[in-house]
Amino acid sequence: MKYVIGIDVGTSGMKSIVVNQKGNVVSSYSVSYQTEHPHTGYSEMDPNIWYEAAIESLKVLVTQYGVDQISGVSFSGQMHGLVIVDNQGQVIRPAILWNDTRTSQAVADIKEKIGLKTLLNETQNTVIEGFTLPKLIWLKLHEPAHYNEIYKFMLPKDYIVYRLTGNLYSEPSDAAGTIMFNVKEENWSTTILEKLDIDTTICPDIIPSHGFSGTLTQSIMEEIGYKGEETINVYQGGADNACGALGAGITDENKQLVSIGTSGVALSIINHKNYENDGKVHYFNHCVPNQKYIMGVTLSAGYSLEWIKQLFSNEEDFETFLRPISESKIGANGLIFTPYLLGERTPHNDAKIRGSFIGLDANTTRADIKRAVLEGVTFSIKDSIQIIRGEGKAVQNIVSIGGGAKNPHWLQIQADVFNAQITTRTEEQGPAFGAAMLAAMGEQWFDSFSDMSEMWINYNASINSDDHNVGLYQSYYEIYQEVYRSTRALSDKLVQFK
Ligand code: XUL
Repeated sequence: MKYVIGIDVGTSGMKSIVVNQKGNVVSSYSVSYQTEHPHTGYSEMDPNIWYEAAIESLKVLVTQYGVDQISGVSFSGQMHGLVIVDNQGQVIRPAILWNDTRTSQAVADIKEKIGLKTLLNETQNTVIEGFTLPKLIWLKLHEPAHYNEIYKFMLPKDYIVYRLTGNLYSEPSDAAGTIMFNVKEENWSTTILEKLDIDTTICPDIIPSHGFSGTLTQSIMEEIGYKGEETINVYQGGADNACGALGAGITDENKQLVSIGTSGVALSIINHKNYENDGKVHYFNHCVPNQKYIMGVTLSAGYSLEWIKQLFSNEEDFETFLRPISESKIGANGLIFTPYLLGERTPHNDAKIRGSFIGLDANTTRADIKRAVLEGVTFSIKDSIQIIRGEGKAVQNIVSIGGGAKNPHWLQIQADVFNAQITTRTEEQGPAFGAAMLAAMGEQWFDSFSDMSEMWINYNASINSDDHNVGLYQSYYEIYQEVYRSTRALSDKLVQFK
């Protein structure tokens, strides 16, 4: 039996899985790491930490199965992060990550220089703080010495592929999130780059997400414990949300994805050639050739839960921590949480807004607070679902993945808040599974992605919404939407004290 390895380069850790030719996950390995927040709104990481985590994971998993059994490796990566290297291939400074919001001025400058119309025409997206382009512009202004040293920029997973193979590529699903990429034409936008005076040579060459990137170099093979001639094929991989969708069987327009990891996303494939995005949501290339999707993002989804768990009782695992939420009730006894711990993306694109609990009461319990956090995150993802519905999608059948798919109470909350049927995968492995699928496709185990999905992807019984609960949640959702409008000015005033 042959195997492929899928590695997800997440925000708080790296998850790697080994998948056999029947699509069964036979082994997995995780490494945790932490992002740095040197100032409010900053989020950084030393890319060497990802590289070390990849080496550790490959060492363990390749040793388990033997190098001759592992056919290929591929990656899924957190999007938008800016990694820069000099002409010796050395990292110039820590990577600036997707949830870093220092770039508000750069965003305003880009919009002024290029104009929203050209941005949308060229990239099908507007520009926001978390994307890669404003990070480059920020560097140009604040760290010109670093900027001038740039030989190439890369996305996080592309950096790992580069370290493992010596070859420097990117692929459409991650390139789309830079806002320097023409999503429709699938090449770098020379218009955007020229208008901002960015040297086009710093952009990596583009290959397909399941395209061959090279083989593990001899020194990497030695580092993971092999001295012989044998090596392993590497395929470039995809953006984590694209890989999450692929791994959840989202390869056509019929099902939608909700993924709750550190961030939360609602995603739907739209392949219509004439679709023009107005910037309310993102419109990116899928890691499946010729497919594209729209997506809305909640910046602090699982992150909000992680945050409240750290405040309350960090020693508990999530299951134990969330057990009491059934003691509370729908609407957490009149308590609403807005998950804007790091600002918010969809639908507000507001880096300054901060979260709140509205309705704290002398009777509020810890269970209410935990439930309010789950519900607030879910309301925030509903904001994106409503935009997707506005594009004419019914959004009746959602595949839920990530941490949000692990808790049965949260799944029911999702069904009731979204007013949709929620399905989960039998083998829920998040984006790492999509990465393994890209490696399998690279190895030509299947003729098409849809053949592979049919063979490899199975679902559990669906969870239906309850009409009574849907009505109750709708009333809470309307109040939730008001909280943003009512707290925006307050957050603005408070920012000076952070
Ligand atoms: C998507 C986004 C996040 C990251 C982190 O636009 O910023 O979902 O990919 O996982």
